[in-house]
Amino acid sequence: MKKLISRTGMKEPLKALVSRARQVVLSRSETSAATGRLFFTSGGQFDDEFRALASGQALFPANASRGDRGTNYFLRRAIHRLEKGLIMRPRKPSFAADYILDTVVSLRDSAPTLNQAEQQWAHDVLVEYFGVVEKRGAIAEAAEIFTAVRPQLAVAGSKTPSVPATRAKAQSLPSFDELVSLLQYRKSTRWFKQTTVPRELLAKAINAAALAPTACNRQAYYYWVFDDPTLTQELAKLPMGVSGFGHNIPVLIAVVGRYRAYSHVRDRHLIYIDASLSIMAFVQALETLGLASCTINWPEIPEREKRARDAIPMESDERIIMFIAVGYPDDTGLVPHSPKQPEAVFGRFNLES
Ligand SMILES: Cc1cc2nc3c(=O)[nH]c(=O)nc-3n(C[C@H](O)[C@H](O)[C@H](O)COP(=O)(O)O)c2cc1C
Repeated sequence: MKKLISRTGMKEPLKALVSRARQVVLSRSETSAATGRLFFTSGGQFDDEFRALASGQALFPANASRGDRGTNYFLRRAIHRLEKGLIMRPRKPSFAADYILDTVVSLRDSAPTLNQAEQQWAHDVLVEYFGVVEKRGAIAEAAEIFTAVRPQLAVAGSKTPSVPATRAKAQSLPSFDELVSLLQYRKSTRWFKQTTVPRELLAKAINAAALAPTACNRQAYYYWVFDDPTLTQELAKLPMGVSGFGHNIPVLIAVVGRYRAYSHVRDRHLIYIDASLSIMAFVQALETLGLASCTINWPEIPEREKRARDAIPMESDERIIMFIAVGYPDDTGLVPHSPKQPEAVFGRFNLES
């Protein structure tokens, strides 16, 4: 009798029936979006994501006229688009007519709230743009607004302008072998020395992480570092994947994505993609600084999401992408071997199957 009861308390025949029904609904969902919608969303599993996404869409317009955390995501994307227009071969005599007015108005309204680097980038690119483009219609109107706003911008005159240029000449780059040895050297590390991690090192690694590519250079995420031992211990109870070693994590980082950077639902995956690319740069940078890390999954579980929101004062459109445990590695601690797949399995060319 005992054998017929599964760990969930469900009798085996019933469990098999539920499992079969699930397979039927899943295969039906492959061809019927309506079935899939019902199946996947009716239990509320997606509610937190929907809520944050909706909040991000609602916050997007306000952010276009008032920067927060020194950033205006609409403006960042617009300036990025101008840079792309400037590098086109051949470059069009007139481009960006459909968004240049919104761009300069956004700069004008948000400038006092933007960090210096963001103002400098917008300023330099707009100077370049208006210097080369034919000024007619909306572009002429935008040029006038920019001329009026320009004296109010916090810009440094003498530096190399933040505009498109040919690639820098390679200087003291690591060789392929050196890069691979760094990639091989990093191992997800779960045992740490109980030593304080200097904030300067974390800041260095975060600056390295900021160099990662992001969609339209928006960088819509940030690293929330917890190095207070009591807080870290408390927060380490949030993710599931740290059981058995959570208590020895000296620094816990929540990488937080911000949906407010996107006006289109189609871009809803970008917070995850962009943040993850930067996390790779971050963890490699840590290794060069003598530190080690373990990236930690943040699963979509409503109760845990609520606990996280109670513990970490995130804004409504913000979502935890991942946690990262950081510290000096305990040299006596073991790390899994975790062999990687060979290129033949991992890569594919053209129409190979
Ligand atoms: C998205 C993601 C989530 C992960 N979540 C956990 C986790 O919750 N707990 C854990 O111990 N390791 C976690 N890891 C670490 C993986 O187990 C590890 O990267 C993998 O086994 C390969 O080992 P390596 O990083 O040493 O190459 C995670 C890694 C990634 C990329």
